[in-house]
Parts: sequence; structure tokens; C-alpha cells
Amino acid sequence: MAEEVLKPYLVTDPQEMSERLDALRAQGKKIGLVPTMGALHLGHLSLALAAKNECDVVVVSDFVNPTQFAPNEDFDKYPRALDADLSLLAKIETDFVFAPPASKMYPSGFDASVHVGGVSKILEGAFRPTHFDGVCLVVLKLFNITRADIAYFGQKDYQQVAVVKKMVADLNVPTKIAMRPIIRERDGLAMSSRNSYMTDDERKQALVLSRALDAAEELIKAGERESSVVYDKMREIIATAPDAKIDYIRIADPDSLLEMDRIAGNVVILEAVRIGATRLIDNKLIERKS
Ligand code: PAF
Repeated sequence: MAEEVLKPYLVTDPQEMSERLDALRAQGKKIGLVPTMGALHLGHLSLALAAKNECDVVVVSDFVNPTQFAPNEDFDKYPRALDADLSLLAKIETDFVFAPPASKMYPSGFDASVHVGGVSKILEGAFRPTHFDGVCLVVLKLFNITRADIAYFGQKDYQQVAVVKKMVADLNVPTKIAMRPIIRERDGLAMSSRNSYMTDDERKQALVLSRALDAAEELIKAGERESSVVYDKMREIIATAPDAKIDYIRIADPDSLLEMDRIAGNVVILEAVRIGATRLIDNKLIERKS
């Protein structure tokens, strides 16, 4: 009788992960990677399901990457939930979970860095200057460990996807980058592991992010072309939340993320808003003909 393989298979060692995937690749299997920091929600599961549809083998990495947090950020507070993550991924029969300890990803003496300029310096990069270097470092390591054919990222971190795409283009990394839509709660809040930081009252106030994006879309679809008018409307909505503080709102070209004063063609609207001590980001892609 064939041995029953319990899924997902948990791997903590990078070398073992590479070897297991090498063996599967040698059998012609297509490998899909979903990089995560764990504390999984339906947004992550939608990425794993997309990978399952398009690939033969799915690896979800579950690693709270220390190098993408600045010393004043929430690394210690970031939720860790490996057991719950494994149960969720078992339900959708994910093949592997790669959850290395930090000491295996960054052993003593580790001294490499990855820096992508341009798109990584604006918006999130302006508020979190070392963040994307840490993201690129761990993502490139994950790509090298898994040699995945396709890596799946959520649109929620729109700028992260743009930075990773630039990194793979500039460094000739063969992994294809797939972006999948934001998954929202029924009331519109974009799913995020950081939503758990908020009190009930803050959670209600956080709805101004999606409401501001919806109102912006409505204005643009009704023919508004002045970004300043759209910003005013968004600010008005966000100001209805007493604990909200805007880091940025930006109407931008969907590829370069450069600001557009006049709206023409497709745009992405990006925002980062603090609700009390919790910093939230959200965005909306608006595709138009003119
Ligand atoms: O989006 C995230 O959760 C992280 O930035 C990523 C891509 C898993 C890298 O640590």
C-alpha cells in the first residue's frame, strides 16, 4: 500500500527545501511559490489556490522576515500562528510549507544585501526607507531556494509587487511574478495580518480607507480628471475617522508609480493611513480607455 503523505509537508531547512523541489522539478513538475509572513487569512489562501490551479507543486513560505522591519517597527508584535497556518493549508492540500528559523535564513556572518532603486524609494519607501531592501533580500533568497516557476503576490502590497518585478527584471531572475486581487472583508476592509492589532472602534474607523478608494473610483469614472479634486474627496472621507492620520494618498501610473496630476488612461490609487497605532495600506487599480 502506498504511504499516505500528509499535506502540507513542513520543511524548516533551506537545503532540504531545495533538494525536495529539485527532485520534483526533475520529474517535470511546475513549482508555485506563495511568499508569506504567516498569520494566514483568505488573501493568502486565494494566492495558494491560484498557485494550485496553475502549478503542480505549491510551496507556501511562512517566515516573519526580520530584515524588512526597521528597529522602531512591529517585528516583535507581528502575529505568529504556524499551527493555525498549517491547518488552513491542509484544508486546501498545499504541498509544502517552508518555515525556516531566522538563523537558517541569516546565519551568523551573513553579509549580503539587495537594493532596487527607483520604484522602491517613493511612497512606502519614503516612510520605511529600509523596508524594500529587506523584502528583496528575503524574496530573492526564497526564489533561489525554491527556484519556483511562478511566485504569487497579493495586490494589497501593490508597490511590493512593482519592486519585486523590477528586481527580477534587473537581476535576470527566471521566476515569473503573478499578482492576484485584494481580498476584502464583507465591509470592504482589505484583509491583512495587521488588522488584528486594531480595537473594535479602530476596526470601524479603518473602513475609511476602502470608502475613500471607492469614492475616488466613482469620481474618476464620472469623468473627473484633476487628481487634486479626487485627493480632496478622499481626505474628506478619511477625516471622518477621528484617529486616522494620512501618510500618503497618491494617484499614480500603474507601472512607474509616479504621480499623475491629470488622470489619463489606467491609474492606481495608493494610500497609507494610520488608525491609532496601526498603519494600514490599501489601493485600487482603475482601468479606463482615456
Ligand atoms: O508580503 C509579505 O508578506 C512579505 O513582504 C513577503 C513578500 C512574504 C516577504 O517577507
